Amino acid sequence: VRGSARDFYWNSRRRAGELFVKPRNFEDTAQAVTLEEVGLDHPDWNYYAPSGWLWIKRALRGLGVGPGDVFVDFGSGKGRVVYQAARSFRFKRVVGVEVAEAFNAVARTNIEANRHRLKCRDVELVTIDAAQYPIPPDMTVAYFYNPFGGDVFRAVLRNIVDSLDRAPRRMYVIYANPLMADELLATGRFVLHAKTRGGHRVGRRGRGELSIFVTKPAP
Ligand SMILES: C[S@@+](CC[C@H](N)C(=O)[O-])C[C@H]1O[C@@H](n2cnc3c(N)ncnc32)[C@H](O)[C@@H]1O
Repeated sequence: VRGSARDFYWNSRRRAGELFVKPRNFEDTAQAVTLEEVGLDHPDWNYYAPSGWLWIKRALRGLGVGPGDVFVDFGSGKGRVVYQAARSFRFKRVVGVEVAEAFNAVARTNIEANRHRLKCRDVELVTIDAAQYPIPPDMTVAYFYNPFGGDVFRAVLRNIVDSLDRAPRRMYVIYANPLMADELLATGRFVLHAKTRGGHRVGRRGRGELSIFVTKPAP
């Protein structure tokens, strides 16, 4: 009974997001799609499934991000998080990095159809394997919804650490379903700042689906 009550609760939340947050002219982003369905296949690359509509907005609340910040969604899929980040915050720039052009094409349509709603109009959608993506020297917020694991995640982490070495700065890493969080912490560059569940802060020890990390202050 408890299991079905929980399912009912989360399904209702999902439906509420589709009903009240999704703009009318936003193409469907709700259905999960495997990479095989769009002609791609790699053991470390994970399938498309969207973040909750309000996850990013609630995760960023209170972090003080603004016009000095550049937001990058690694594995940006059909653009739901890119849209919500650009819609809700006056970032300097919002970037989506996605390996599947088929998903990026949907994201492009979604952003173009809703550009008038965005607080940040500088939105870039790049089709590339994230492991090959050069980290922008001004990137200060990185978002991951479990897009890839293994060596691909390690390569991106290495690129981020190298970028921090070249240009030391405060950086947030927001990681939903953070299966490789231990490797992120093992870089010695980040500490856990907070966790959220259903978009709400649950404290660092709570069971959250999304973890927020921040760079350690310089010694
Ligand atoms: C779980 S979905 C998250 C989508 C979006 N960020 C969101 O939260 O709504 C993961 C995405 O990562 C993409 N992906 C997987 N491997 C990738 C890689 N090596 N480089 C870039 N994107 C990748 C997938 O195609 C998929 O769209």
